[in-house]
Amino acid sequence: MCGIVCYVGTQDAKPILLEGLRRLEYRGYDSAGLAVQDGGEIGLHRSAGRIIDLEKKINDVAIPGCTGIAHTRWATHGEPTEENAHPHRDQEEKVFVIHNGIIENYHSLKKKLAKSGVKYRSDTDTEVLAHLIAGHFDGSLTEAVRKTMSQVEGTFGLAVIHKDVPGEIVVARRGSPLIIGVGEDGNFAASDVAAMVRYTNKVLHLNDNELASITAEGVSISTAQAKEVQRPAETVEWLPEDAELNGFPHFMLKEIFEQPETINNAMRGRLEPGEGVPKLGGIMPVWNDLKKCRHMVIVACGTSYYAGCVGRTIFEKLTEIDVEVELASEFRYQKLNFPPNTFIIALSQSGETADTLAAIREASRKGATLLGIVNVVGSSIARETAAGIYNHAGPEIGVASTKIFISQLTILTLLALLLGRHQNLSLTEGVEAIKALGALPDQVRQILSQDNHIQAIAEKYFKYNNWLFLGRKYGYPIAMEGALKLKEISYIHAEGYAAGEMKHGPIALINPEMPTVAIAPRDAMYEKMIGNMQEVKSRRGPLIAIATEGDEKIREIADEVIEIPHTLEYLYPVLATVPCQLLAYHCARFLNRDIDKPRNLAKSVTVE
Ligand code: M6R
Repeated sequence: MCGIVCYVGTQDAKPILLEGLRRLEYRGYDSAGLAVQDGGEIGLHRSAGRIIDLEKKINDVAIPGCTGIAHTRWATHGEPTEENAHPHRDQEEKVFVIHNGIIENYHSLKKKLAKSGVKYRSDTDTEVLAHLIAGHFDGSLTEAVRKTMSQVEGTFGLAVIHKDVPGEIVVARRGSPLIIGVGEDGNFAASDVAAMVRYTNKVLHLNDNELASITAEGVSISTAQAKEVQRPAETVEWLPEDAELNGFPHFMLKEIFEQPETINNAMRGRLEPGEGVPKLGGIMPVWNDLKKCRHMVIVACGTSYYAGCVGRTIFEKLTEIDVEVELASEFRYQKLNFPPNTFIIALSQSGETADTLAAIREASRKGATLLGIVNVVGSSIARETAAGIYNHAGPEIGVASTKIFISQLTILTLLALLLGRHQNLSLTEGVEAIKALGALPDQVRQILSQDNHIQAIAEKYFKYNNWLFLGRKYGYPIAMEGALKLKEISYIHAEGYAAGEMKHGPIALINPEMPTVAIAPRDAMYEKMIGNMQEVKSRRGPLIAIATEGDEKIREIADEVIEIPHTLEYLYPVLATVPCQLLAYHCARFLNRDIDKPRNLAKSVTVE
């Protein structure tokens, strides 16, 4: 969802900005633009569509200047046209601004500005920012932005340049991520580390209601109340090659194949095999309360929510804690009433999902303690939670989340195991769990080696327009995640259902035109799943089973079988997910879909 990249330094800004925009493509967008400053001149270039369309437009255009701001827009206010693309400018074309987020009071601001003669060029909320900043400008761009911040309601990560102050970019943040990069040949700002990781790994995080003036020489941060802020730069772990395809046709496939390493990264330095107890340093600040906790709520959206659903069942198995899982977008509208010592776990890949942020803010207001399980270091959720655990999975570029889901399952298991071992879980159970966790990377590799077989299944079924995914207990959230993956990237309609619910409705849909994917490992629900699969087959529904290796019974029932290795019941979700991801990927590929950037979707959903 909307991306920002800015550069000010000694090099030509144009190629740096275009490179940054390409790195942000995965966030989802429908138009792009940039403004580059050369002394007192600012050149504006925008295009509807993809970055490649912008590039075609400006490839042969000389755009001199070492200061620039660039943006990918995901339309909210106004259609994805060139006129609505960022940067936006004021009447006199002195101020150029790019913005992520939503200005909630833009209607009233627009009306006021219109009365004073301002003519609008776009349908966006962002344009008011350019007019307001121009109105407040009195020689200091920082002050003009500060005054504007006090007038606007809503969320923003923004960057501004002004014709009269060459060589300066002012950025500000409230509710939308904004990171400053400190480089050798200049400084950067971006909504996402990926945009600048090729040039620098030294970053400064802006907090909400802070702004910064960035020049080639340095960065000065201050608050909305004009208080100076001193903050040392941090080093990010991500490498430039993390954001490359490295020979894979899509980031999604690359990330699926990275999963053995993702699991290792989630566990690295965190396992103590002899004691059967994981070590999770990030939660130590709240450990004394956490070990006494008896009530937890996991809040998340999309794929992260399904990981939370698996997590609840793992907690039920390994601990004495009551765990609820809530969709973040619904949670904050409920009547929240927590027992003492309730912990809220925010599960989020990006750490910036607006619904999840809003949910934890509300929970915090009601007295709960916040924990985060996030992948992006320094993200908003990471910073707003009292303690947490990082996934350490590297960037996930494909819009469809794959490796982070697997990482979330791994980390939730570690957390449940740690708490369980301080409650009733025996040493033997702890040791057994750690042994089984340690075997997961190789077991995932074993499933990945069946890629050709899964591709052949996809080739047989990709033309079917409706699919059903069924699972029970641990398998139920995997059925929902499998269906979500398929619909996200292939646009095939798919439903994930609790298998026991099938006869209460969905069974009416079963016919030879509707494939069913059954998550059916040899766990406690096995016999019941066999019954459900027979119900599908007796109605001549094509049946694809994900089953434990060597399961002859399932081979007799199902049309297709994808085998997964044997593991502990509560670790089957990790293994059963991988065939679902590959099935979705190959169906989407046969359908020629834009796999890494599926239509209408954004990687990080920063609006509610
Ligand atoms: O960054 P988050 O984990 O908070 O994102 C939550 C969802 O937006 C995300 O999982 C979404 O459902 C993905 N497109 C799933 O593939």
